[in-house]
Amino acid sequence: MKSRNSNTAVKIGIFDSGIGGLSVVRATHELLPGLDIIYVADQAHVPYGRRQMTEIRSFSEQITRFLLAQGVDLVVVACNTASAAALKYLRQTFPSLPIVGMEPAVKPASQQSLTRAVGILATPATFQGELYQSLVHKYGEGLQIYQDTCAGLVEEIEAGHLKGSNTRHILEMALEPMLANKVDTIVLGCTHYPFVLSLLREIAGDKIQVIDPAPAVARRVGTLLKSEFDYQDHPDKKASFNFFTSAAPILFQYQIDTLLGYQGEIQKLIWKNEDGLEIETKE
Ligand code: DGL
Repeated sequence: MKSRNSNTAVKIGIFDSGIGGLSVVRATHELLPGLDIIYVADQAHVPYGRRQMTEIRSFSEQITRFLLAQGVDLVVVACNTASAAALKYLRQTFPSLPIVGMEPAVKPASQQSLTRAVGILATPATFQGELYQSLVHKYGEGLQIYQDTCAGLVEEIEAGHLKGSNTRHILEMALEPMLANKVDTIVLGCTHYPFVLSLLREIAGDKIQVIDPAPAVARRVGTLLKSEFDYQDHPDKKASFNFFTSAAPILFQYQIDTLLGYQGEIQKLIWKNEDGLEIETKE
């Protein structure tokens, strides 16, 4: 890791199982437009949500090692599922690396809900994790919490079906009992879900508050970069983006163009069983 307080050339790594973390890239770039970002999408293994915690932990460790080898100063685990499975472990394994993780926004939902009924959309692994259980324990008192894993939604979003009939059906099934029970706040507990926000609003209506934690994560990144590296964003510096995927770069290029429209190099990563990740070399 670079020495602290070296404001120049600070760069961060952000990762997710797929394109979900791009919602965090977007929020971070909006807040810190000059910050260089390296993004890893482990699309060879998406979705993480139905995998074993130990497996997700091992993927997360190898991706973090890869990002460190690329010279990043801070890592954002832009995935609620990987945070549930690995955040604690990553902080123990890389004690000098600033790491920002994600957690379902139970606390803000509890603070904001007037009906005292909230809906939480997240993956099975996120709901099973200790992190979520501890949030419910801490902030869930007097709150009716309706959970849904939205089975198949991550796959639909990865396939680009942001408004498709199956996507709509999955969301309707998830939201129906929540709306019937008068939830006034819905938490997006998976970074993929902000990409179906407009469909969710069509189904749930405009009066429902939807909490997307990406802007809060971006603010946390800004605060940590300032305190650890004295980083200040310069409006005239243009950010550079390096994108990596462990699946097909052509598809990933299309997804980035559609969802973000940012320009950056896209490279393919190959999983080497014991040695982690390697960049595919072009012949
Ligand atoms: N985007 C991820 C999350 O925030 C993971 C989705 C998945 O791979 O299952 O939970």
